Amino acid sequence: MKTNIQPFFHPASSTISYIVFDVESRAAVIIDSPLDFCPQSGVLSTQFADQQIEFIHAQRLHICWILETHAHADHLTAVSYLKHKLNAKIAVSEDIVQVQASFQSIFNLSQQTIQKSKQRFDRLLCDEEELTFGQTILKVIKTPGHTPDSLTFLIENHAFIGDTLFMPDIGSARCDFPKGSAATLYNSIQRIYALPEETILWMCHDYQPNGRDVAYHIPLKEMREKNLHIQHTTNLDAFVLQREERDRGLAVPKLLYPAIQVNLCAGTLPQDDHGQCFLKIPVTLSQPIEWAKLND
Ligand SMILES: [Fe+2]
Repeated sequence: MKTNIQPFFHPASSTISYIVFDVESRAAVIIDSPLDFCPQSGVLSTQFADQQIEFIHAQRLHICWILETHAHADHLTAVSYLKHKLNAKIAVSEDIVQVQASFQSIFNLSQQTIQKSKQRFDRLLCDEEELTFGQTILKVIKTPGHTPDSLTFLIENHAFIGDTLFMPDIGSARCDFPKGSAATLYNSIQRIYALPEETILWMCHDYQPNGRDVAYHIPLKEMREKNLHIQHTTNLDAFVLQREERDRGLAVPKLLYPAIQVNLCAGTLPQDDHGQCFLKIPVTLSQPIEWAKLND
């Protein structure tokens, strides 16, 4: 194998971020790196990303691409911070525009803001597009369903599958975000299950059920046989029924609104006229709104 894979686990969001590097050239990519954000205090820090930067310097790596498997709803992305520190390019799915369109009205964003947000990404990736770092080729596979912009990155026999599947004792990702679809996720998983037998699947999250140790990867063959929600014999209707029923009972992620409004503009922060950063939380009233309008 000419590439090395270094996982980093972020306990606050159960996210697993990866640095994958070409051993000879030291060229590398970073996948799914989170910022540290406390919703109670509003304090944002870069502690986790700084650990990755330390590793990059210690290993004498040159980062070529900063990648996101999708617009995350459970953490704020570190991509712009990493770009600032490492001078590398940010790449996400071209379908990030669908996520931006979905949330434009929810956050009352202007067309100009949406346009600027899109420009924060250096490259919008298409299905089956290839990126290179050193001698290594990374192939992009669109795997929507959890979100419309979800991607899998295939590097040699290693597939970084984002939030499509989790370890077999957890199952699959929720599909109840805007433009999510259980049927679409099923079809994406069939694409993953059709990869060569020797493929290793690398997780984007691990929730450690029953307190087990964090698991980063699993052989494709084992996933196809053991996944709690979808095995190679599971049909579309059975999966959709089970997935949608489960989604109806799930709570909204704690960081949904902070994460999405930052992630749809590549991890940059909205500011007011005085340069102060604020995040919006849209309020839905369960009663008529008359009494609640301050400016009337
Ligand atoms: Fe996700």
